[in-house]
Amino acid sequence: MHAPSPSLSSRRAMHGNNRLQIGLFGANCSSGRAVTLVPERWSGNWPDNKRLAILADDAGIDFMLPIGRWKGYGGDTDYQGTTLETITWATGLLAATKRLTVFGTVHAPIFNPVVAAKEMVTADHIGEGRFGLNIVVGWNEGEFDMFGVAQRAHEDRYEYAQEWIDVIKMIWSDREDFDFHGKYLHMSGIRGKPKPYGGTRPVIMNAGASATGQAFAVKNCDAFFLQASRTSLEETAARVRKAQDAARQQSRDIGCYTVGVVSCRPTQKAAEEYFQHCIVDCADWSAVDSILAMKNISPQTLPMPEFLTQRSGYAQGMGGLPLVGDPDHVAAQLADLSQAGLTGIALSFVNYLDELPYFCAEVMGRLERRGLRAKSGA
Ligand SMILES: Cc1cc2nc3c(=O)[nH]c(=O)nc-3n(C[C@H](O)[C@H](O)[C@H](O)COP(=O)(O)O)c2cc1C
Repeated sequence: MHAPSPSLSSRRAMHGNNRLQIGLFGANCSSGRAVTLVPERWSGNWPDNKRLAILADDAGIDFMLPIGRWKGYGGDTDYQGTTLETITWATGLLAATKRLTVFGTVHAPIFNPVVAAKEMVTADHIGEGRFGLNIVVGWNEGEFDMFGVAQRAHEDRYEYAQEWIDVIKMIWSDREDFDFHGKYLHMSGIRGKPKPYGGTRPVIMNAGASATGQAFAVKNCDAFFLQASRTSLEETAARVRKAQDAARQQSRDIGCYTVGVVSCRPTQKAAEEYFQHCIVDCADWSAVDSILAMKNISPQTLPMPEFLTQRSGYAQGMGGLPLVGDPDHVAAQLADLSQAGLTGIALSFVNYLDELPYFCAEVMGRLERRGLRAKSGA
């Protein structure tokens, strides 16, 4: 039996009824988002990913978001050195699950848009309307060199991405045999069938941090990932309002999301100790320093205190918001984020498979009781 065709709004709601959507971020990469030496760090291999997706699907998690990474960061662990390509990863997970939305994270400058549109449509049909697209323009030059593709100047990356997504949306619409002549793309007789599942299109997200990246998200995307403030909920709420106001000015509506790193244990002390052990005492500092160097973050470019804060922030889940504590504390932090206007959050764990069952058993129920999530399985 086929699932009913999803509308764009049910795709945007990740097919659920949750005021605070919860996803998993980074499981397609070795070590996930934890730059750590601990032996239980995430394998990122296919059997673990498949087990995780089935577990997440059964527990009512809303989405899985992968990282488009082509080269690791080195260090003692070659952090994120082994990665599963995200559209094929999503396709396999969609075939193995029933409810989850699974994103592909696609580098616009590397993927020909006609090929990408068809790959994504194929994933979308296999998932019966549960594929999502995370557009990234790239920032890591070493990755681009490997493809023989020159990294464009920052503003031009998004100008190119605009043409790329315009072509893809046209292919996904009912247009056929059209030409596209932009500043970058010159293509003739473009045709792409089938169309996405159920007569709509995949949900589209972007996580640009610059003003240009954010403007791109507001103009083109259904979901925008922003950085939550580590210190001020008010500041997070202001960032959400800014993005949503900008969308409203274009008669658009955009869901705002963020990323978090969870360490949830029966007591606050146990959670803090585990976090300290994995992400501070056993951090893979040489990998952290290599990431910082790529981003031009060094004691030469920043005042020392700011550099040290950034260094520890990258070790602790690549800048994601730490959610560290007992289930009451973690649920309260998540409720605060919802209160600040966020639509959802993509979480990572040191070992997703080991830690997700406890999170789901203890935190999800608390979120249900707060009215932020529908009863799991509902
Ligand atoms: C949730 C999230 C996921 C991201 N995924 C990727 C990714 O997989 N690959 C990548 O190259 N960049 C990724 N990025 C980086 C952003 O796409 C973006 O390039 C970055 O935030 C810098 O913003 P800017 O492009 O506006 O300068 C991600 C960022 C966030 C917050």
